[in-house]
Amino acid sequence: MPEPDAGLHGAAAAAGGVAATEPFYLPAGNEVALFEQCHARQLAVMLKGPTGCGKTRFIEHMAWRLGRPLVTIACHDDLSASDLIGRFLIRHDGTAWQDGPLTRAVREGAICYLDEVVEARQDTVVVLHPLTDYRRMLPIDKTGETIEAAPGFQLVVSYNPGYQRMLKDLKPSTRQRFVALDFDFPPLDTEVAIVEREGAANHATAHALVTLGRRLRGLQDRGLAEVPSTRLLIAAARLIASGIPERDACMAAIVSPLSDEATLVGAMHDLVDASFI
Ligand SMILES: Nc1ncnc2c1ncn2[C@@H]1O[C@H](COP(=O)(O)OP(=O)(O)OP(=O)(O)O)[C@@H](O)[C@H]1O
Ligand SMILES: [Mg+2]
Repeated sequence: MPEPDAGLHGAAAAAGGVAATEPFYLPAGNEVALFEQCHARQLAVMLKGPTGCGKTRFIEHMAWRLGRPLVTIACHDDLSASDLIGRFLIRHDGTAWQDGPLTRAVREGAICYLDEVVEARQDTVVVLHPLTDYRRMLPIDKTGETIEAAPGFQLVVSYNPGYQRMLKDLKPSTRQRFVALDFDFPPLDTEVAIVEREGAANHATAHALVTLGRRLRGLQDRGLAEVPSTRLLIAAARLIASGIPERDACMAAIVSPLSDEATLVGAMHDLVDASFI
């Protein structure tokens, strides 16, 4: 059974390198071909979908497949335009300009992945606009320079539309600059294969976990706000593989993270019991 290796790819990606080995990704539909076409046509892409359904892994895989370096930026509401573009640093011998991660990606022709873009403020997001239309330019006000994106440069953002954000959403002028790829939890057989591989689980355990996951997802109609992602199923599989009894692993890795509400926890507990006899 191959060892899960997400950590290594993640590290390579954050550092802006090309992953040395193929990040494992099982497609659920035509997303690979669609993304390849977007890359070839220099179209910016938005990955939409719930947490833990494979968006980050997909982009790591695609960057490897296309042989492009990957620069990942986690967005938050303190992220400023300077954090993306760069700033002057004061040194003992004067000041020196230092490129931010976006500028680096533009110069290198990397894939620049902005995770959870909706978390960033509007004045930060507008910096992306001239890069996403035909100009593919990045103006740097502080140096007076305008850089043209190198051919392989591609902007990719992720966006989780499930979260209740009454005030925060992307402006239409931002949204309409991206081709959107919709992600969801994979089909049963695909998800079983993912849990088997990533969770170092045998087929029967992976199948039981995925079946449980799908039943728990059904509780959304009964008030479960967050449903279990593939990520949680993998976490349970890993605990089981390390010798933790199945029910305990499911309670700790799947049920507890999802809700504190006694009735819902009780309902989930019953489903766990029914899944592992
Ligand atoms: N299609 C897939 N192929 C291979 N592994 C997958 C796939 N989907 C999910 N995974 C596994 O699930 C884990 C979680 O996926 P990932 O981190 O890509 O989710 P995400 O959509 O980026 O979530 P978030 O919105 O929370 O960032 C991955 O580390 C990987 O182990
Ligand atoms: Mg992610």
